[in-house]
Amino acid sequence: MPDAAYYNGQYTTLQQLQVSPDDRAFYFGDGVYEVVKVLDGRVFALELHLDRLYRSAAGIEVKIPWSRAEIAGVLADLLERSTYPNALTYFQISRGVAPRKHAYPPADTVPSLCAWVKPFHGLPKALHEEGAKAVIVADQRWPQAWIKSLNLLPNAMAADAARRAGAYEAILVDRDGLVNECSASNLFAVIDGVVRTAPKNRNILWGVSRHVALQCAQALGIRVQERAFSVPEMLYGDEVFLTSTSPDVLPIVNIDGHQISDGRPGPITRRLLAAFRHHIRTGEYTTR
Ligand code: PDD
Repeated sequence: MPDAAYYNGQYTTLQQLQVSPDDRAFYFGDGVYEVVKVLDGRVFALELHLDRLYRSAAGIEVKIPWSRAEIAGVLADLLERSTYPNALTYFQISRGVAPRKHAYPPADTVPSLCAWVKPFHGLPKALHEEGAKAVIVADQRWPQAWIKSLNLLPNAMAADAARRAGAYEAILVDRDGLVNECSASNLFAVIDGVVRTAPKNRNILWGVSRHVALQCAQALGIRVQERAFSVPEMLYGDEVFLTSTSPDVLPIVNIDGHQISDGRPGPITRRLLAAFRHHIRTGEYTTR
């Protein structure tokens, strides 16, 4: 079964998808996007992803001309065409197609919607069982990281620094030495028995998985504080883990060659991962 793809009214396969080079996504990264997971045919937390899509679009002054139901309908059509029970769906909305010029095109320019579905195989099991490595990188993104913008060059560069070091992720640290998040995930540390993560401000993406993990922690009676932590607090804390759409909750056991605690996934991380996966399967978080 081929991958299924969509661009401005046309359904096709990813291989045959034709997009305009005058799409502002192409020249300027002038758009926003979402990555949504589908497990056993059920879309995970679509409402939260749509909330963020509209919030991000408003953040770059793009007015989405489609209703939530219309966007969900495109996803449903793609899922039906691809028939993958476990899938990753990607959708992006750009400011539209117009001759290349930095300033916005005329107000009647219709935004572009591009989307596709690919099979989702999950991460290698060993990563969750043994924990992953990370590296520390200076956060060089613009001060609007809360917008899920198509402009991902600093994220891509950080991710590649991790890849070159044989690590799974790059931890983005600000000028004051505080941990914001990672190149494509949110970061948590367990410090003195409390799960800490940077607060929802402009410096981080408000991750859907972050939200679900915090809800799981609360349900489990684990203490949580949305308060930024420093690099030493993280390195000498009890546990470190990240959250994102593909890995759910992933233990981090080594950062820049420094072992976290005993170098094994910690008990709070393991409980949160189990709770997170239980909730995905039972569907409690498939809607808001
Ligand atoms: N990235 N922070 C950043 C910078 C991200 O790019 C992502 C997700 C997250 C986690 O968000 P969520 O839990 O909603 O997936 C945090 C997606 C998966 C990507 O760019 O492919």
